[in-house]
Formats: sequence, structure tokens, C-alpha cells
Amino acid sequence: MDDGAPDLESALAALRTLLADGVRAVAATPHLNASDLNGTRRARAEAGWQRLVEVAKASLPGLELYRGYEIQLDVPEFDLSDAGLRLAGSRFVLVEFQAFTVPERSADALARIGEGSYVPIIAHPERYWGYDRSHSVVPEWRAAGALLQVNSGSLLGEYGEHIRMVAQRFLSEGWIDVLASDNHARPNRSPSLRPAWDYLVRRGLAREAGLLLETNPQRILGDEMPVTVGPVEAAGGVFKRVARALRGGR
Ligand SMILES: [Fe+2]
Repeated sequence: MDDGAPDLESALAALRTLLADGVRAVAATPHLNASDLNGTRRARAEAGWQRLVEVAKASLPGLELYRGYEIQLDVPEFDLSDAGLRLAGSRFVLVEFQAFTVPERSADALARIGEGSYVPIIAHPERYWGYDRSHSVVPEWRAAGALLQVNSGSLLGEYGEHIRMVAQRFLSEGWIDVLASDNHARPNRSPSLRPAWDYLVRRGLAREAGLLLETNPQRILGDEMPVTVGPVEAAGGVFKRVARALRGGR
């Protein structure tokens, strides 16, 4: 639908994998720029969506499909009153910063979205550059009313060791609200959420797996505030060591 699946068949293949792994609802979030919310890119995504839903309904019964967008914050002001821009028409809107970099006054940008009574969910914050060592901007984002979506593959090291440690740190601080696949139907990316589920359960975090992969996604799609996960420590004290390593200590 955007820079993800190149054609209908690869989109269906990704959905089939997710369904086989126990996923029952998928929210697709093609990219849009906040400066161009109603241009040709959106028209293309809408057309692709119609086709996908028609075919999936017939060939993948039991899979619920929802839609939203991943909106890049390239301008300070934009209009989110069109429910089609938000996740399943809920109050929640998936947003990302430009160029994988935390911008100046990022919390203000998120607070402005909240003023319209929408709730921004920051896409893959573990992948951004520009944090200080203690990620002190993240509590500011949360205070501004934003939620955090971390990629399931980040926890597993799919984007490298540093991003894995940042994702683990965010998890240990209780900063993550939802895990998502960021599936682009690309062969080098895990199409599934199952490995993240197993990763958490193996570390004694079954409750967190349930909240991040079932309860909270379901609540967001149902327009309810997600449950706060809270700080956690993995079995064996892994996250404490990660936090120390990120601070540059031992
Ligand atoms: Fe993104």
C-alpha cells in the first residue's frame, strides 16, 4: 500500500503468515506526510486498501483488517479531524519524526496533537537518533500525552545491537504501550509477532506480552486508552545490565 508490499500477492502472503501465527487483527498504516494528507499518495493507499480488503475477506476469513496511517511530522500544524487518518477511526494517530531524528521541542509537537483531543502514538522511537544517554525526552513525550509503539523486531535485534538495547531499556522503564510488526512485507523483516511474544514469555514477562501484543492493541482499535505496563525487570537482571551499558558504565 505504500513503500511496503510491492503488490497484492506479497501483502496477502504477509497477512497469511500473521494469521498462521495467531494474529487475528491487523492495522495497516501506510506512510503520509503531515504536509500532504490528501494528495496522490493517500489516494493510492486508499485504492490499494479497497482491493486488499476485498480479496482478504474472501481468502483469509477470521482476520480483521483495520486501517490508519503513519504520519510523518514534517509540519507543525495539520488537521486530523478526518477519522480515516486515525487508527481504525479512533482518537489514536500513529506519528513519526522526520529522518529518524528526535527534533527540537518534540514534546511540544506531540502536545499540539493532544490539544485536538487526539492521542499520538510514536512509531518505533527506539530507532531514532538524537537522544541523550538517559533518553530524558521520553518522559516528556509521555507527559505530553503521547504513547510509544516499539517494533517487535527491535527487541530481537533485527535492527542491530544498539536499537535492541534501547528497546529493552524502554521496556524496562515501562515506556512501551504497544508492540507492532512494522511489517513492510519485506523478506529481511520478521513478518510475525510470535518471536516477540516468545522472547517476553521466556524472560518471565507473560503479563507484559499479553498487554503489549493483545490487550493494548485491542483497546487502541476499540478507542480505549491502553493499560500502563509499568517498569519491569527480566529474569536474570538482563535489563539492568543493558541500562548500565547504555549509560556507558559496566
Ligand atoms: Fe516509520
